[in-house]
Amino acid sequence: MEEKKSFLIEKIDIKSPNKNIVPITSSIGSDGKLSIGGCSIEELVNKYDSPLYILDEATLRNSCRAYKKALEKHYPGESLPIYASKANSSIFMSNLISSEGFGLDAVSEGELLTALKGGVPNEKIVFHGNNKSDKEIEFAVNNNIKVIVDNDYDLERLEGISNSLSIDLEIMIRFTPGIECHTHEYIRTGSFDSKFGFGIEYLDTLFARVSNTKHLKLKGLHAHIGSQIFELDPHRDLGEIMVNIIIDAKKFGHNIKELNVGGGLGIKYTENDDPPSIEEWVKTVSASVLKACKRNNLELPTLMCEPGRSIVSTAGITIYKIGAFKEIPGIKTYLSVDGGMSDNPRPITYQSNYSACLVNNPFNINPKNKYTIAGKHCESGDVLFKEIELADCKTGDLICVFGTGAYNISMSSNYNRIPRPAALLVCDGEAEIIQRRESPLDLLKYDVLPDRFIKQN
Ligand SMILES: Cc1ncc(COP(=O)(O)O)c(C=O)c1O
Repeated sequence: MEEKKSFLIEKIDIKSPNKNIVPITSSIGSDGKLSIGGCSIEELVNKYDSPLYILDEATLRNSCRAYKKALEKHYPGESLPIYASKANSSIFMSNLISSEGFGLDAVSEGELLTALKGGVPNEKIVFHGNNKSDKEIEFAVNNNIKVIVDNDYDLERLEGISNSLSIDLEIMIRFTPGIECHTHEYIRTGSFDSKFGFGIEYLDTLFARVSNTKHLKLKGLHAHIGSQIFELDPHRDLGEIMVNIIIDAKKFGHNIKELNVGGGLGIKYTENDDPPSIEEWVKTVSASVLKACKRNNLELPTLMCEPGRSIVSTAGITIYKIGAFKEIPGIKTYLSVDGGMSDNPRPITYQSNYSACLVNNPFNINPKNKYTIAGKHCESGDVLFKEIELADCKTGDLICVFGTGAYNISMSSNYNRIPRPAALLVCDGEAEIIQRRESPLDLLKYDVLPDRFIKQN
């Protein structure tokens, strides 16, 4: 039988985790089974059940340090990496990134609260969103959190609050630079037709408008051009465009001191993916800002970036248990697992691809074993893998899906009233719970049966 070796034997790049498919602590024990962070996955599932999200602390910290180090090396001015918490928001994640010197970006009161509870210093949090509620804006202002103004509606309300409290408020503004990226349409945000931010052609009007306010102080500029980007040119162009805008804003009396280039660096989900390293990305952004500032004799602004996926995705794996098999002769064989689109909505939403292997036999992939991995939800499209080759497997075996740290738990749902899996942190052979497993009873917590229906029954 022809056998293919698993991608797991590829050399692991410790310096830039986004270039690996697997967490940097992945290893195969003497029993031939997969372990992460020094923990046997089989033992973790025996103890914590499946499906199970697992985060590897070493990979997380290495990603954070790669950004910090690269900024220190390539950008001579002040810098602040900011974790985009939409990728995976939890008290634990807030705490970890804060301990690595990161700031955090949030887009809702929930994410803000999580960041504060996790210990992120208020002054290192920025608040985004194209439709912030009054309550959310007030929450941010009351907690000294900088608001990124996305539209006129944000501006009006911040002006109103600053006037009524007679306090100066520092703001950043978000604009759309019109840079196209070869990425999935749904996550492209930098093009002119984006719902986010001010159009670049409107900026002069906006600068004049902010100059006319009594208490709003324009401190920074923000743009985010998309996600899972493998090219360096879009960010090189972005740095230059942003510096030109800082110069333009001076004509209106604004001294913009912070420049936030957003996130977007891609990661390696499958063997075909070849993203730049974190250092290459930071070097490119830094060089473009430096060059443009030098040419224009401009003092270096504080350089901020907002990585999400490239911080947390590769650190995360999801473990599922195999249940039913259904063979449709000559067509395909379905292999169903105990989770699916409620814990990972990316395949059904974006047709995203992942890599996976059997926990107890990561190698010895048999090309004859071609499976369609289906989730358990009542939806034909609930398919995690359209076709994947695995080693020989049976009901009860465990499957490990790699690269699920970002936009999985944070995008999860309770579709079909399926409780969310537990999330564990692994490090040096120890595993700790960072998010408890939901139970079906938890899901009834917010249901209310009006009194008259109770009486009827
Ligand atoms: C404003 C903003 N910043 C940062 C990010 C993080 O992007 P990524 O996870 O691709 O690094 C996003 C994600 O869409 C975003 O919308």
